[in-house]
Amino acid sequence: QARYKIAVIPGDGIGREVMPEGLRALQAAARRFDLAFDFTPIEWASCDYHARTGEMMPADWKAQLQGMDAIYFGAVGWPATVPDHVSLWGSLLKFRREFDQYINLRPVRLFEGVPCPLAGRRAGDIDYCVVRENTEGEYTNLGGVMFAGTEREIVIQESVFSRHGTDRVLKYAFELARSRARKHLTVATKSNGIAISMPWWDGRADAMAMAYPEVTVDKQHIDILSARFVLQPGRFDVVVASNLFGDILSDLGPATTGTIGLAPSANLNPERRFPSLFEPVHGSAPDIYGRNIANPVAMIWSGALMLDFLGHRDAHDAIVRAIETVLAQGPRTPDLGGSASTTEMGEAIAALIGTAAR
Ligand code: NAD
Ligand code: IPM
Ligand code: MN
Repeated sequence: QARYKIAVIPGDGIGREVMPEGLRALQAAARRFDLAFDFTPIEWASCDYHARTGEMMPADWKAQLQGMDAIYFGAVGWPATVPDHVSLWGSLLKFRREFDQYINLRPVRLFEGVPCPLAGRRAGDIDYCVVRENTEGEYTNLGGVMFAGTEREIVIQESVFSRHGTDRVLKYAFELARSRARKHLTVATKSNGIAISMPWWDGRADAMAMAYPEVTVDKQHIDILSARFVLQPGRFDVVVASNLFGDILSDLGPATTGTIGLAPSANLNPERRFPSLFEPVHGSAPDIYGRNIANPVAMIWSGALMLDFLGHRDAHDAIVRAIETVLAQGPRTPDLGGSASTTEMGEAIAALIGTAAR
């Protein structure tokens, strides 16, 4: 029996409501596929640890997590009490950077039974993966404010693109594209306006493309690429992007498939030197927290991505099939046009994971 140590960090807001459903699904998969999980619940969030100590995490956070096989994460952020840049740089962004989770893999799929906001699209018409660089790029704390508080105030925020950091995310994206049926890669840049880093990104992609003759490559400026996510989503297979562009595309893509409440993500350290982290794309949603109406699918699907990364493709597939069935038949949460609770939808998915034929 395979046994895994999983750090469980529900975080803030609806992270606390969807996490129990994620765990319920994982337990169902464990029973069915003879796996064992040692879940270690950890309360590092704005609403608990920060409220008690003024910090997001203890100084030895890295030592506490290093021995884990994976981190299962809800969402962090409670802007009413802690500014977002403080809470996120104090937790999630620290995990990504210090555990070198340089791939953020974010699948986007239109499912049967989910109303699509784009006219005339059917299940299967939208099916691509955003591969987001996750440790550098536009997300930095390099820069500063000069002449603060005066008319001459100047703000500088630097971006950082290393050859190592860019090549490794491009390589992952090319490999992923080559492994898929359509073998198509879209490179998101902005090499007209952002005149140093983005033409350079295009150049790194061109150089890498030589090693992947089977993969067709389409470089697109991020502005028109965003329009095509809406107008021609069928063009996309694998989309690779910098940290910020990938962030934006990975909310836009899921929005075109009905709701961001479906979108999962895997923050990967592919070399497995550090634990990887699995979390919904969405945040803590303070506007709906406390009503038990958050869609639990993003959390549950993220758990499936975790099982896949741990080597259990069969368990991953069983969870995704259960999600497909419940999206098609109900019960569904309000963001999907239904009236079910988070718990009802989570229980229905877990029940199917446990019973469906292998
Ligand atoms: P958000 O993703 O929390 O919410 C955006 C909108 O989508 C809201 O209207 C919300 O109700 C809805 N929504 C989100 N998830 C849903 C779900 N599962 N089911 C149904 N509806 C859902 O984004 P925001 O409002 O910009 O951010 C809120 C807080 O979360 C902020 O503190 C932000 O920094 C943080 N945040 C954290 C993460 C993370 O931890 N990974 C990601 C994004 C935002
Ligand atoms: C995400 C989130 C985070 C990001 C925020 C909360 C810092 O939006 O995971 O997409 O921008 O990476
Ligand atoms: Mn985001």
